[in-house]
This record gives sequence, C-alpha cells and structure tokens, in this order.
Amino acid sequence: MILRICLLAALLQLAHSADDVVACYTEYHHPSTASIPSGLCTHYQLIGQTSVDWLGNFVPPNETVTDEFLEIRNREKDESKKPVLLLCVTGANPHWSRLVSFDNNMRKFATNAAKFLKESGLQGLDLDWEFPYWSSDGVIWDYEGFARLLEILHETFAPQGLLLTAAVSGPPTITRVSYNVAALNNFADLVFVMNYDFHVWTPSAPFVGFNAPLHAMPSERSELREMNSEASMRAYVKLGLDRKKAIFGMPVYNLAFVLANGKFHIPYAFADDITYDYTSHNLVCNLTSSKGWNRVWNKYAASSYLYHEEQKLWISEETEDSVRAKAGYAREQAFGGIMIFSLGTDDVSGDCGNEVFPLTNLAARTFRGQ
Ligand SMILES: *[C@@H]1O[C@H](CO)[C@@H](O)[C@H](O)[C@H]1NC(C)=O
Ligand SMILES: *[C@@H]1O[C@H](CO)[C@@H](O)[C@H](O)[C@H]1NC(C)=O
Repeated sequence: MILRICLLAALLQLAHSADDVVACYTEYHHPSTASIPSGLCTHYQLIGQTSVDWLGNFVPPNETVTDEFLEIRNREKDESKKPVLLLCVTGANPHWSRLVSFDNNMRKFATNAAKFLKESGLQGLDLDWEFPYWSSDGVIWDYEGFARLLEILHETFAPQGLLLTAAVSGPPTITRVSYNVAALNNFADLVFVMNYDFHVWTPSAPFVGFNAPLHAMPSERSELREMNSEASMRAYVKLGLDRKKAIFGMPVYNLAFVLANGKFHIPYAFADDITYDYTSHNLVCNLTSSKGWNRVWNKYAASSYLYHEEQKLWISEETEDSVRAKAGYAREQAFGGIMIFSLGTDDVSGDCGNEVFPLTNLAARTFRGQ
C-alpha cells in the first residue's frame, strides 16, 4: 500500500514536472526586467506593446521595448533555463473583426508576425481578443473568423517552431458564444483562461464583489453561480478543451470599490464607484495594521476582502490563502499550468516582508506540489 502511494506520488511528481506552465503577463517596465528573478516564470507574455491596427495589420513593439523584454531570456546562460517569450496582441474589436474577415489579411498578419518574432529571437504570439462576437461591437463572423485566424497562424508558425497561445474569457456566458474550442485544441499551444474581473463595478451593476472567486457562494443564483474560476474552467472542459492546454489564470491585482454605505459591506453590497488606489498587492498586504481596516475571508469563494467603514472602501484582494486555494485546485484538476496577471501588481520589491513576487512564487510552488 505504502509502496503504491509512493509510486503514485512519484508518478504525480512526473506529471507535474518539466512541462508545468507558469505563464506570467508583464508590462513594459512594470516591473523592469532587472527586478524579475531568474526562474520566476516559464513563460512571459508582454502585454500593451503589440497590436492589430484598424486595417488588421500586425504592429510590433519598438526596439527599446523588444530589447528589454529579450533580456529576460538572453541573460540566462543555461539553455534549459531560458524562458519562453511571447508577444501579447491586443486591439479594438472592430480591428480584429476586420483582420479575420479575409484570409488574405490573416495570411499577411501571420507572415509579418512570424518574420518579426524570428528576427527578434522571440518564441511566439499570444492573442488577446476581448471578445469575439460576444462584445456589443462584435460581428456575426467573429466566431468562425477567430477559429480561422488560429488555423492560419498555426500553419505559418508551427513549421518555424513558433508558439501560438490565446487569452480567453472567464465567464462561461462569454466562453460559449466566443470560442470554437475545437480550433483552440487543434491550433493553439496553450489557452490562458482569464479567471478574473468576475465582478467589476459599472453604473448598471453598482455592487462590490470578488474579483476572482474560486467557487460559487451558496447565496448566488442563476448566472451569478457561474461567475467564478471553477465554473469558468468547467465550461472549457465541458466544451472539450484539452486539460493540458488549459492554463488556469489568476490575478495578483486587487479591485477596489467605494461603498454606498460603509456599514453595509458584505459581497454584493451597493457601491458608488471604483478607485484605483489599491491595485497592487504591496499596497494592501499590511492594511489591517492601520486603524479601521478589517479583512474578511469567505470560505465559499476562497477569497478575501478588506473594508473600511468610515472611508467607505471595499477591496477584493488576493492573499496567500486565495492563491494557495486556486493553484491547489489547478493542480488537483491536472490543468497544464497556471497564468498570472500581472507581475507588476504583485509585491515586486518584497515590501510585504517576505520574498519578492510572493504571490507568483507561492502559486508556482503550490501548482508544482512543492
Ligand atoms: C518605445 O515604446 C515605449 C513604450 O511605449 C516608449 O516609452 C518609448 O518612448 C518608445 N521609444 C522609442 C525610441 O520610440
Ligand atoms: C508589512 O509588515 C511586515 C511584517 O510586520 C514588515 O516587515 C513590512 O515592512 C511591512 N510592509 C509594509 C509595506 O508596510
């Protein structure tokens, strides 16, 4: 029995070894390349510097940006330690719709992207289209168009050894209408599921809520029961996404709200506004040592929030406990890896008192079973 358990443990260890993906989104200079420790992530997706323009053209980063990004890889002398570097492409919905409306547009985009990646020494492209068809400015051909874009990019990239990944929606209500999952399986190397922004404040949804709950809360009904990471991953698995390509995304940033009434601060309490003063982990980790701040853990959502009655503030935050719960779940479900959004909002300098990038490091260790 013991031997069998050991064997099983050894096998699991194998299953979670070399191919474990720890993919981290990062912005130019936020953080600077020099502050990213060697070995922090296996993949880096540079976001905010590469786009698709209104004619559907590929627009790469400038040389300064590309060179700084390349440093993450070039500074590693040992070939096996070199991380995979991907450029994340963003753009307005009409730009993407235009790109995918003709094969010729997509072929040109693929050729230009591949040429740039090869000449720069980068490993691939990550597509971040939010979101095909579902968006109010989406068009009827987006769904099949995105599938076709994946196919054409794959045809161009694979023979050159370039990777193709996609960042995809969390909420199943979007997932079901935006993605041809068979095309993701066939043509994408990895699929980064954006399990965050489940409860963003809008004038028509003026409530506080967890940014990235792991599970549903008993009080949540109908569509709200699906606004969590578990429901999000399940939707993809049900649609047939290959578990090894499915990368469980988690935020390290916080969402902060201004409460309508400071005394009413449970999840779904009314909020008047949002605030961007508390986005990074280092700005909230010690907040409860200041007067008036309280932290509440919700065991169902496996998430916590901070609130301040007099200041009428409410912050959905990520903590060691929420990160451990999510990375543990991803490991247990045998997904291909985890994705972090984004490095600049973790505790970059170790201000919280422990290591630098404490949440990213903890997520990686937990997923690897260390
Ligand atoms: C390159 O892009 C970065 C980021 O957008 C910008 O700050 C910088 O000024 C640009 N450099 C050049 C030489 O255009
Ligand atoms: C947070 O608390 C820890 C432990 O008490 C301390 O070492 C650290 O300097 C504090 N950091 C901030 C940003 O207040």
